[in-house]
Amino acid sequence: MLLHLPNLLTTDELKWAHEVLNGAAWADGRNTAGNQAVHAKNNQQLPEGSKEVQLLRDLVLRGLERHAIFFSASLPKHVSPPMFNRYGGETNRYDNHVDSAIRYLPGGVGRVRTDISCTLFLSDPASYDGGELVINELFNPQRIKLAAGDMVLYPGTSVHRVEPVTRGHRTACFFWIQSMVRSTEQRKLLFDMDQHLMHLRGSLGETEPAIVGLTGTYHNLLRMWADT
Ligand code: NI
Repeated sequence: MLLHLPNLLTTDELKWAHEVLNGAAWADGRNTAGNQAVHAKNNQQLPEGSKEVQLLRDLVLRGLERHAIFFSASLPKHVSPPMFNRYGGETNRYDNHVDSAIRYLPGGVGRVRTDISCTLFLSDPASYDGGELVINELFNPQRIKLAAGDMVLYPGTSVHRVEPVTRGHRTACFFWIQSMVRSTEQRKLLFDMDQHLMHLRGSLGETEPAIVGLTGTYHNLLRMWADT
């Protein structure tokens, strides 16, 4: 499932994020790539443990918590700590690769299975050329370049790349989610059902007996499929 979540960050938050990013020291992105990805990756990242990473991480996690659709769409069990990258100049691309299935958390405090990959765009798309996130869906590659503050969720299983940035810089935040519901198909069914239920509640009210019944069905499916 490919999902666009608009406005994860506000305009003021983005402005503040760019002030923090402008003062940060960037490092080679290959430091955190797996064996296959290291050959494809040529970008920069904020180093783990820097003050800026901690500030920006908190900002993104607050954005996730208040977003109306994020929880329903991803049913998160674990969220890997958000990281930040930059493409431009000599370090401007990330060729086709697959993300490692398991991310080891900094400090050896656990692991996250990468069911869902997340990219939160931070740069105004008019400020750079190229830099599309291309997700190789069968027969139909998706080319994604979103407004600053918008996020895309996509399956961790996909082969994907970031096209070379040929003008300006593209900064983004990226992280992974281990979902309570491992199966993409089951997660999508639950999300669709939850969305339809929200619309029905809006038009018919919370107490309509069929809505109460269907809400129960949603939770019973979640109970059957979720691993908490
Ligand atoms: Ni990737």
